[in-house]
Amino acid sequence: MSTQNIITVASGKGGVGKTWFAITLAHAFAQRGENILLIDGDLGLANVDVQLGLAPSHDLGSVIAGQVALEDALTRVETGNKNAGSFDVLAGKSGSGVLSALSHAEVANLHQGIQSLASQYDRVIVDLAAGVDANVLQLCEHNGTTLTLVNGEPTSLTDAYALIKLVHMNHPHADLRVVANMAEDKADGQRIFGALNKACATFLDINLTSAGIIPRDDTIRDTIRHQTALLYRHPGSKAAQAVLKIAENLIVSAKKTTAPPTSRKSA
Ligand SMILES: Nc1ncnc2c1ncn2[C@@H]1O[C@H](COP(=O)(O)OP(=O)(O)OP(=O)(O)O)[C@@H](O)[C@H]1O
Ligand SMILES: [Mg+2]
Repeated sequence: MSTQNIITVASGKGGVGKTWFAITLAHAFAQRGENILLIDGDLGLANVDVQLGLAPSHDLGSVIAGQVALEDALTRVETGNKNAGSFDVLAGKSGSGVLSALSHAEVANLHQGIQSLASQYDRVIVDLAAGVDANVLQLCEHNGTTLTLVNGEPTSLTDAYALIKLVHMNHPHADLRVVANMAEDKADGQRIFGALNKACATFLDINLTSAGIIPRDDTIRDTIRHQTALLYRHPGSKAAQAVLKIAENLIVSAKKTTAPPTSRKSA
C-alpha cells in the first residue's frame, strides 16, 4: 500500500505550532484544488476541531467505540469563501482525554485505517501530539513525509532531535523535513534549521531537508481566538504566505520523486 501522500506534523516539544500549521497546510493544499484529509492525531488532547470551531457529529472517539467506520466519521470544513477550498477533517475527541489510553492494538488499527483512507485523497495530513511516545512514533510510520516543527528555544531543538532520532531508528528511510517556526527573520530560521541539522548529521549521520521558515506572526493568535482559518482571515499575512510556500515546495518535490525517469535517446 503506497502511503507517500501522508504528511505527519510533529515536534517533540509541545506548543510550537503544530495544530495551526497542520490546519493551514491542509487549507493551502485545498486552495490549490487538492482533495485533502486532515486528521487530528493528538490522541490525548485533540485541538483541530476547537481551533476551527467545528462541532463534529462524529470523531475518532466514535470510531474507536465501534459506532462508525473511519470514513463515516469525517467532517467537511468549508473555509468561509467558495474559492478558498474545503477539506475533510477526522476530528479527535477534544476535552476528554479518553483516547490517550488506547491500547497498542487500537492505535495499530487506527494506523491501518489511516493508510487505507489515504488512497482516497491527494494528501493526508496528520497533526500529532507533543512528545515521543509509542503512539506518536507509530503514526510516523509511513512512506510519506514527517515535518518536524522547531523554534529557536533549546528545549524545542533537543526535543525535535529526540523525535527525529526515534523516527529514524524505527524507519531509517523516513523522509524527514524541518519547519523552523516563530523565526525572528530568515537568518534566524536558517540558524534554527542549521542547529538541528548539524546535530542530526553529527550524531545520527542523517541530513535533514528544510521545508521552510515561518516568522513569528500575531495574526496566528488572532486566527485561533476567532476559531477560523488563517488563509481565510489573514491570507496576506507573513505566516500565511510562508505556509503557502511550504505547500508549493512539497508539491514540487513530490512531483520530482514520482516523475518517471527521462528516457535516454539511443545514439
Ligand atoms: N509563527 C508563530 N507566531 C506567533 N505565534 C505562534 C506561531 N506559531 C504558533 N504560535 C502560537 O503558539 C501557540 C500554540 O500553537 P498550537 O496549538 O498550534 O501548537 P501545538 O504544537 O499544536 O501545541 P500542542 O503541542 O499543545 O498540541 C498558539 O497560541 C499560537 O498562536
Ligand atoms: Mg496541537
